[in-house]
Amino acid sequence: MSWSTLIWACLIGTAPTFISATLAVAALPSYVLQFAPLSHLYSNETYFPTDVADHLTHVQPEINMSAIADSVTFSTISSLASDVYLTSKDDIENLPSWPNGVKPDTTGLTSAPATIIAVQKPGGIVDAFYFYFYSYNYCSGANVRYLAQYLDIQFGDHVGDWEHSMVRFVNGVPQDIYLSAHDGGFAYTYGALPSQGGRAVTYVANGTHANYATPGKHQHDLPLLDDYTDAGPLWDVTLNFRGYWFDNSTQTFTVANGANVGGEEEASEGVGWLEFAGHWGDQQYDLLFEGQYCVTATECKYVDGPTGPIAKNLGRTAVCQNESSCTVQTSV
Ligand SMILES: *[C@@H]1O[C@H](CO)[C@@H](O)[C@H](O)[C@H]1NC(C)=O
Ligand SMILES: *[C@@H]1O[C@H](CO)[C@@H](O)[C@H](O)[C@H]1NC(C)=O
Ligand SMILES: *[C@@H]1O[C@H](CO)[C@@H](O)[C@H](O)[C@H]1NC(C)=O
Ligand SMILES: *[C@@H]1O[C@H](CO)[C@@H](O)[C@H](O)[C@H]1NC(C)=O
Ligand SMILES: *[C@@H]1O[C@H](CO)[C@@H](O)[C@H](O)[C@H]1NC(C)=O
Repeated sequence: MSWSTLIWACLIGTAPTFISATLAVAALPSYVLQFAPLSHLYSNETYFPTDVADHLTHVQPEINMSAIADSVTFSTISSLASDVYLTSKDDIENLPSWPNGVKPDTTGLTSAPATIIAVQKPGGIVDAFYFYFYSYNYCSGANVRYLAQYLDIQFGDHVGDWEHSMVRFVNGVPQDIYLSAHDGGFAYTYGALPSQGGRAVTYVANGTHANYATPGKHQHDLPLLDDYTDAGPLWDVTLNFRGYWFDNSTQTFTVANGANVGGEEEASEGVGWLEFAGHWGDQQYDLLFEGQYCVTATECKYVDGPTGPIAKNLGRTAVCQNESSCTVQTSV
């Protein structure tokens, strides 16, 4: 019996004694929401958060640029192999509007739910992953330095964009925070970040959605690019999210509580979409595709869409996604 079935059984009032004991296990700890980071998107952002449910309606599974089905749903996605690319049905060069997502309102609410995944680890640790999904990564939102800007070239755009922050709690107390940025990221003690109502405040880069601890200019990890952050629209993920637990020993997800649209949608969706190990966007277009060009062998205007939460090292022991180099900084 899955957690979603259990929660449903609870909602319709069957077997109350057994269920109430189980629900206590299924809910996310309250501190996961109490200390959820608040994120400022860029003031001139054009690619806002997207509901994964909405994204799925605009893509089809492809392998080696060939469609293997004309649609994908929450029930078919878990059967897809890791070499699948969920590919836009629309030509991205024609700038369809669905990748623009939904801008948060003045309360920090967007109709695009975030994804919160909690993972219990030895030593009283709970790692809470706050996943941010955007349907498009527009690298040209970052400023191209030096000669490149005169040549009007851009690179690193892709359909689908998974970013995250992670707060490590020890016995319910927030200890460290990790902010993903492109292929890497930065780790800090939780108290090192500025906070609002006790919640760490983070900044999301224009177009690329890399997460930073400060507003301003940041060096992107691709040469020639700078990311920009400022105190633009605030996104409060606790107002609308899908919540899950991940069991590292079995590598399985279970449904926990959610809020708003995410909370309503997740019960019927199951957890199969979190098990999908393929890509959430188009495969890098080849050079014959109109609009594609490459600056070096690896840096092209359009690159591969990213993998999802399951590929982000949820079972990590160190705070960073890449555990081989992880320094937890004590100031920003
Ligand atoms: C935002 O965009 C407007 C119009 O393109 C521009 O004038 C303004 O400088 C931009 N502001 C920032 C902070 O990028
Ligand atoms: C996809 O292309 C690669 C490289 O050309 C090839 O090795 C692989 O067998 C192809 N896969 C499928 C499923 O056609
Ligand atoms: C922010 O991104 C937009 C495109 O989405 C771009 O037009 C603008 O120049 C970017 N601003 C900065 C400061 O890089
Ligand atoms: C999570 O599982 C992986 C694979 O079994 C293991 O290497 C890792 O140490 C586990 N993480 C923790 C925190 O126990
Ligand atoms: C992890 O960090 C190490 C050391 O900086 C680096 O050599 C390696 O390429 C990184 N791994 C990934 C997957 O980025």
